[in-house]
Amino acid sequence: MHQFSLCIYIYMFVLWLTCCLAFQLIIHSYCPLLLSSLSQEEEEEKMLRIRSRIISSTWRSLLPQISSNKFSTHSERKLEGKVAVITGAASGIGKESAAKFISHGAKVIVADIHRQLGQQTASELGDNATFVPCDVTKESDVSDLVDFAISKHGQLDIMYNNAGVACRTPLSIVDIDLAQFDRVMAINVRGVMAGIKHAARVMIPRGSGCILCTGSVTGVMGGLAQPTYSTTKSCVIGIVRSMTAQLCKNGIRINCISPFAIPTAFSLDEMREYFPGVVPEDLTKMLHNTSELKGAYCEPIDVANAALFLASEDAKFISGQNLVVDGGFTSFKSLNLSQQVQERST
Ligand SMILES: NC(=O)c1ccc[n+]([C@@H]2O[C@H](COP(=O)([O-])OP(=O)(O)OC[C@H]3O[C@@H](n4cnc5c(N)ncnc54)[C@H](O)[C@@H]3O)[C@@H](O)[C@H]2O)c1
Ligand SMILES: *[C@@H]1O[C@H](CO)[C@@H](O)[C@H](O)[C@H]1NC(C)=O
Ligand SMILES: *[C@@H]1O[C@H](CO)[C@@H](O)[C@H](O)[C@H]1NC(C)=O
Ligand SMILES: *[C@@H]1O[C@H](CO)[C@@H](O)[C@H](O)[C@H]1NC(C)=O
Repeated sequence: MHQFSLCIYIYMFVLWLTCCLAFQLIIHSYCPLLLSSLSQEEEEEKMLRIRSRIISSTWRSLLPQISSNKFSTHSERKLEGKVAVITGAASGIGKESAAKFISHGAKVIVADIHRQLGQQTASELGDNATFVPCDVTKESDVSDLVDFAISKHGQLDIMYNNAGVACRTPLSIVDIDLAQFDRVMAINVRGVMAGIKHAARVMIPRGSGCILCTGSVTGVMGGLAQPTYSTTKSCVIGIVRSMTAQLCKNGIRINCISPFAIPTAFSLDEMREYFPGVVPEDLTKMLHNTSELKGAYCEPIDVANAALFLASEDAKFISGQNLVVDGGFTSFKSLNLSQQVQERST
């Protein structure tokens, strides 16, 4: 391995030398034309400056790679040394994001109300994951969760408020059960608010941090889910917008990710109620078939990749946004005219 690296260094050095020589050749053959109006002294001085700038920038780009000894893996570890808390991380999108973050060098606190599954997920994810039981409807749980991250790792860089439930409430507003509405709001909305509050409590003194929240396409457009669920997800998108002003002033970025329908436990349980006779594999196929983007359907990894991007330095100037991961679904409707013409003619 070391011999291999040495070869690369030598190769890079030779390449650099060749480039320098080629550059000098170009300077000497073409620059006199460009610099002809300058005196001999000015000309030499200018060329010297150009040459030293090129050389120093070559070294600057070469040195960090040589000293860190990572040619290919350097850019791949986007969360090295970061500490993340993810709620609802025992399964689905949260679990996938936890795995992604860990593979990029982060330590992740897997927070979930489901103890057994949370424990199992954390041990699956290995040493860099720790399970903490947490019910996001209890502010003390959320507060303790954040304090745990600080006491275990000394900092909190990323707070991902992802826990959420479907609601199984009646579809009609006339039949809506307001007690159930309150329960779903407590998890999907109040739980997110609590997460932001306690993350901000420890992030503001440091003057940095990144907060992510899971919205949904159902919060962008009506009619894709029951009104109760849809309302809660609209609220999450709204919370992110309304928190941005204050958090910006403290160097903290906050963003929302709104996924399209994904066949996780969450959506499959819900669908089973509406289509009791259909087996889970077919429910999965039905969901995948709702994709508007030809040849692709939404998977937890698509959301995890979006979360990684927003949590990393790649998104260092992005805040207050709702990144919709929906393969174009919420961006258009079709007039469907040709279909009507076809029907008229038959
Ligand atoms: N699957 C989809 O189609 C879809 C689409 C858009 C948005 N979402 C959202 O994505 C998020 C994750 O959902 P998922 O699809 O991964 O489902 P999931 O059921 O696999 O994961 C949700 C997790 O949240 C946990 N949870 C539930 N109530 C909690 C509470 N009070 N405190 C702490 N944890 C709690 C659950 O135990 C579960 O592990 C949710 O906010 C959901 O609304 C899902
Ligand atoms: C945990 O993180 C450390 C440091 O990034 C890494 O060396 C190690 O392989 C990780 N362990 C697992 C099980 O992923
Ligand atoms: C997908 O849905 C369309 C209707 O929107 C239907 O014609 C088609 O058969 C479905 N495909 C599968 C594989 O279910
Ligand atoms: C397209 O038009 C036909 C005929 O009017 C209708 O039955 C169908 O539901 C329409 N599809 C969409 C997606 O609007």
